[in-house]
Amino acid sequence: RVINWSPESAGKEGYPHFMLKEIHEQPRALRETWAGLDMDYVSKLGKAIAEARRVFITASGTSYHAGLILDYLLVSLAGLDAHAFNSSEYRKYIKLVKEGDILIAISQSGETIDTLMATRVFRERGAKVLAVSNVVDSTIPRESDYQLYTNAGPEIGVAATKTFTTQLMILTALAANAALHSGGMGKEAYSLVLNELEQAPDLVNTTIINVEARVRHIAGKLAVKTNAYYLSRGIGLPIAMEGALKMKEVAYVHAEAYPAGESKHGPIALVNQEFPVVFTVTDDDYLDPLEGNVMEMTARGAYTIGILPSRHYAKLGKVFTEVIQTPDASPYLLTIIQSIPLQLLAYHTAVLRGYDPDKPRNLAKTVTVE
Ligand code: AGP
Repeated sequence: RVINWSPESAGKEGYPHFMLKEIHEQPRALRETWAGLDMDYVSKLGKAIAEARRVFITASGTSYHAGLILDYLLVSLAGLDAHAFNSSEYRKYIKLVKEGDILIAISQSGETIDTLMATRVFRERGAKVLAVSNVVDSTIPRESDYQLYTNAGPEIGVAATKTFTTQLMILTALAANAALHSGGMGKEAYSLVLNELEQAPDLVNTTIINVEARVRHIAGKLAVKTNAYYLSRGIGLPIAMEGALKMKEVAYVHAEAYPAGESKHGPIALVNQEFPVVFTVTDDDYLDPLEGNVMEMTARGAYTIGILPSRHYAKLGKVFTEVIQTPDASPYLLTIIQSIPLQLLAYHTAVLRGYDPDKPRNLAKTVTVE
């Protein structure tokens, strides 16, 4: 009898790659993360954040993008003095850190050396550290004062997918709680955010089912490109940055993310016929200027792709070359939902270009050297 599967492929549960399996696992990962979240503890941390002298957020790569979402919410929703930085750049802040400050160190592995160094230095200078990780008792949580865990299960693919959306879930709940304590958000609005987060598993499931065919079609176009822009405004920007990182790391398409308003300050010079520009549309407040940015790209013959919730379809459905419609939700939840088509776009583009998305060249799952 011939056994034509390896233990590794058995672990993929029928999916051709771990990355695709882990993208599809997100409804479960989100459900388990939500179930594992102790809201009394979140409330204790939310209060500590609201009362901190200053809030620092540090991480690398995909975790940094989750940190930018936290930064956005702590500043704009909670009205707090928050600063997110790449952990490899922690030295810049050394003189600023004092007792009464809090550092939120985000690392799915809990082992990234730069994030660990920042954790150590900030603690030495009297700051309290909250670690957000997917690996219980890994080094960063062990060396921190407080710990919050995503419950995404082991992530084998080098490209972070389910650990990212589960980080967003936890960090959004945390930011909303800090906003409740700071007075930036009332009780009713806070409950609405929590109710929405609870629906994330179902909405992500619907998104995966609804977008995959469309995304594969667009991946067919991107597979022959060498460059792409990812543009957004507001809370959608870190999601665009994460989409560009995924595209670079697994499909080797040079992808750059910018605030859409920055595009005419330089980047648009590169745009010509069929240049791909992906837009993530999240905030209602930014629709008019964003539409203007799409038109500027269209005027230069760009191939524009809009990822937008169905409620914006009437206004923006026709301005893009291609549209990926996602379920409707508030911007707090759209960050999670819109990550799905971006992950799938990178995955399918990589496969169509003949690359193995589980083993991107030059990359390690965990970076343990400075
Ligand atoms: C994500 O797709 C990357 N492989 C990488 O950017 C990663 O997010 C980064 O190295 C941080 O890892 P961590 O979350 O384990 O600290």
